[in-house]
Amino acid sequence: MLLQIQKLYKNFYLGGENIEVLRGVNLEVNEGDFISIMGTSGSGKSTLLHILGCLARPSSGLYFFNGKNVLDISDQEQARIRAHWIGFVFQTFDLLHELSVAENVALPFLYTKTVDKSAKDKVNEAIDQVGLIHRKNHRPSELSGGEMQRVAIARALAVRPKLILADEPTGNLDKANSQAILSLFQELHQKGATIITVTHDYDVAQASQMIYSLEEGYLETVNPRLEEIG
Ligand SMILES: Nc1ncnc2c1ncn2[C@@H]1O[C@H](COP(=O)(O)OP(=O)(O)O)[C@@H](O)[C@H]1O
Ligand SMILES: [Mg+2]
Repeated sequence: MLLQIQKLYKNFYLGGENIEVLRGVNLEVNEGDFISIMGTSGSGKSTLLHILGCLARPSSGLYFFNGKNVLDISDQEQARIRAHWIGFVFQTFDLLHELSVAENVALPFLYTKTVDKSAKDKVNEAIDQVGLIHRKNHRPSELSGGEMQRVAIARALAVRPKLILADEPTGNLDKANSQAILSLFQELHQKGATIITVTHDYDVAQASQMIYSLEEGYLETVNPRLEEIG
């Protein structure tokens, strides 16, 4: 098993008020799984994804990643796990506009402090995997939205992480570009990648192997044939 969370709770205190966003979430993900988590806006999808990616800590609960209790370790150790083992893809792509495609994809190696020749090969391979090698030296502003998201996916893949986390990856894309990104995820999944994507769009969720829904702070499995969900 790649990761396991148990009885995960997350509260936020906002203006003296206590908001319970996650209220006992359980989830197990195996290597090679491609799962999606659906839920309406504000249901806590990003909150859950940030915890899974060691970008935030829960209020209580257990989280084991790659056999390690990641709630029991320092922020610095968490950052190391994040840099080496987890790739993020965001709705807004989050590319640095003054850098080229290749430089953007190489950024994760700054965090792992392993900028060497093999890093260069990995950058090229990741860009090739998303079909943008001919755009390597372009700036993000010269690319379409769909291409920018491909660059962000290449950046997530570059260090060959154990887990890819995608937060509404098609949220800023039109239908054709969304479909292309979903096909790319399916292709990466077939090659063995482990992917967790969150979305409020049932069409996006359907690209995955397994669908969960997050509502009222709980995670439940969704039968993919229940078309009325979402
Ligand atoms: N850092 C924060 N401080 C206070 N409240 C937050 C914070 N992050 C998220 N929330 C609240 O938690 C709830 C879930 O947010 P979020 O996880 O972003 O939902 P989703 O991604 O499903 O739209 C929302 O009510 C949001 O306002
Ligand atoms: Mg969100």
